[in-house]
Amino acid sequence: MKNIAIFASGTGSNFIAIYNAIQNGYLNCNLELLISDKPKSKAIEKAKTLGINHFSFSPKQYSNKEAYETEIVELLQSHHIDLIVLAGYMRLIGSTILSNYEGKIINIHPSLLPLYKGKDAVGQALLDKATKTGVTVHYVDSGMDTGSIIKQVECPIQPNEQRETLEPKIHAIEHKIYSQV
Ligand code: GRF
Repeated sequence: MKNIAIFASGTGSNFIAIYNAIQNGYLNCNLELLISDKPKSKAIEKAKTLGINHFSFSPKQYSNKEAYETEIVELLQSHHIDLIVLAGYMRLIGSTILSNYEGKIINIHPSLLPLYKGKDAVGQALLDKATKTGVTVHYVDSGMDTGSIIKQVECPIQPNEQRETLEPKIHAIEHKIYSQV
């Protein structure tokens, strides 16, 4: 069975959706490790509660990205990780991780890439008065939200739609398609 590591910086709702998909037998893999750059994140709290192996780190306590990524690669190797799943990990993956896991890192982004890259993609779509947005799952390369696309699902935006109604729709799509991918 393949071992996955999830990287998350925030709430971790996608992490939990994947956990649930494994628990209910939909997804056949082992959620081996949860990694976060935010030691106090909800994602870390949830991993602790669920008894999932976890590692958190504060980037500021390392001299540079290479230093903390070297530690992460050692950890990933010791856990025999086959696939890295980014789920709200708010940092660019650097060359240390990329060179060791080329083609084995995926990300989920709340827009129809290449539209609305980077932070607050939902806010960007609303500001743009777009009539639709969506979710993209893609491979990770050295750019921000630029790797080759694996799957996209559209989400219509209603006239006068607000963030409060659009975000839950986007999340519902994410929670379904990440496990499918
Ligand atoms: C998701 O919208 C994902 O697309 C983006 O970050 C958010 C993470 O949400 N990359 P959560 O922490 O999984 O709830």
